[in-house]
Amino acid sequence: MDKFFHIVTYGCQMNVHESEKIAGILSEMGYKSCESPEEADIVVFNTCCIRENAENHAFGNIGMLKKLKAARKDMLIAVGGCLPQQMNKAENLHEKFPYVDIIFGTHNLHNLKGLIEKKLKMRKTLIEIEDSEGEICEDDKPLRTSYPNAWVNIMYGCNNFCSYCIVPYVRGRERSRDSRKIIEEVRSLVSEGYKEITLLGQNVNSYKGELTFPQLLKEIADIDGKFRLRFMTSHPKDFSPELIKVMAQNPKICHCLHLPVQSGSDAILKAMNRKYTAGQYLEKVEMLKKAIPDCAITTDLIVGFPGETDEDFKATLELAKKVNFASAFTFVYSKREGTVAAKMPNQVPEEVSKARIMELVELINSQTRALSQMYIGKTVEILCEDYDSKRGLYMGRDEYGRMGYFASQKNLIGQFVNVRIEHANGVSLTGEVV
Ligand code: 5AD
Ligand code: SF4
Repeated sequence: MDKFFHIVTYGCQMNVHESEKIAGILSEMGYKSCESPEEADIVVFNTCCIRENAENHAFGNIGMLKKLKAARKDMLIAVGGCLPQQMNKAENLHEKFPYVDIIFGTHNLHNLKGLIEKKLKMRKTLIEIEDSEGEICEDDKPLRTSYPNAWVNIMYGCNNFCSYCIVPYVRGRERSRDSRKIIEEVRSLVSEGYKEITLLGQNVNSYKGELTFPQLLKEIADIDGKFRLRFMTSHPKDFSPELIKVMAQNPKICHCLHLPVQSGSDAILKAMNRKYTAGQYLEKVEMLKKAIPDCAITTDLIVGFPGETDEDFKATLELAKKVNFASAFTFVYSKREGTVAAKMPNQVPEEVSKARIMELVELINSQTRALSQMYIGKTVEILCEDYDSKRGLYMGRDEYGRMGYFASQKNLIGQFVNVRIEHANGVSLTGEVV
């Protein structure tokens, strides 16, 4: 009889790709993918803990499976990823949800098969949280779900310890994959027909293999075939002129860059332990715009960091105006136990943070809308990614990451399509295939 798995993913691209690895392990074990927990023999929650609401979201959904598990005792529930990797959280999870069968940390993913086999022979909950990261495991074959895009990890972990961030505690120190293995993986993905490769790491600019990050990027861009190359995330302190040069000289590397600034105030950047000033950030942006004038720059911004004054917040607005971000992820600071910022005085009241985020979102949206207007009448090359059945249109992105919708009788998924943009509604563009 067929066995089925269902994976629920929270958080960043790293987690999306790790869920593909979990799917790979489960399909090797003979499980098939299914759409809902009700049909599944195993449900895996791949969790995130970067902000409190990500955590609450996962808690809520794990709680909702209580009834289903009571009715179907043979169904397995596994909870993995960043949430249980935090100090004392695995025990906490077990107390709250005693019906969860397996709780595993970020460093135990590659052993999921062993954990499932072990659990099937025992009654009580199996909790496995490794403290240290160990060697990089190259054996997991992901079951990719995002064709024509393919995610490729180049490194794991983070050494930066930004004072608000839990990631270094749950993902461990930086480990870089072997350059040759990365290049071989991309080569085979391109030959399998993937059209967009996104290199992933918490801070790709501090990649340390046999090659430097700019050298690695160049070698990948030299692989034959038509495909787009993207990478994320870049830390401004490590973003270098060499990288700008490689981006400018290799047409396969998309003219877009995600460069999280977090704040425009030097005092806040210092308290965040970001290791650059607003001025230094702006200098790098200038350098980039000079070399690649059409480059779309996106960012992450946090409001309400402890001690943030009205003046500090104004500096963030000013910086956002100067850079004119193509888009931005905006967050209200969330206190994470165990981080340095959690112990800082002057935590900002919620209503102040709320007012600030609304003002910031309004500014970013107006910039994004203005950029969208500039698309009208232009023809852009869109990589068709999917069909949106609600709108009855195909969709995809241009090299700058902007989403475009268009009608077609033929299935165009996986193809580069020239689209003349006719309407711009907020961030989304609509046009006609030409
Ligand atoms: N609160 C709010 N935002 C956070 N981020 C990371 N930690 C926190 C936190 N504690 C944001 C940063 C980072 C993005 C991935 O998440 O902006 O760049
Ligand atoms: Fe977190 Fe900073 Fe590392 Fe990014 S660079 S993962 S924000 S500690």
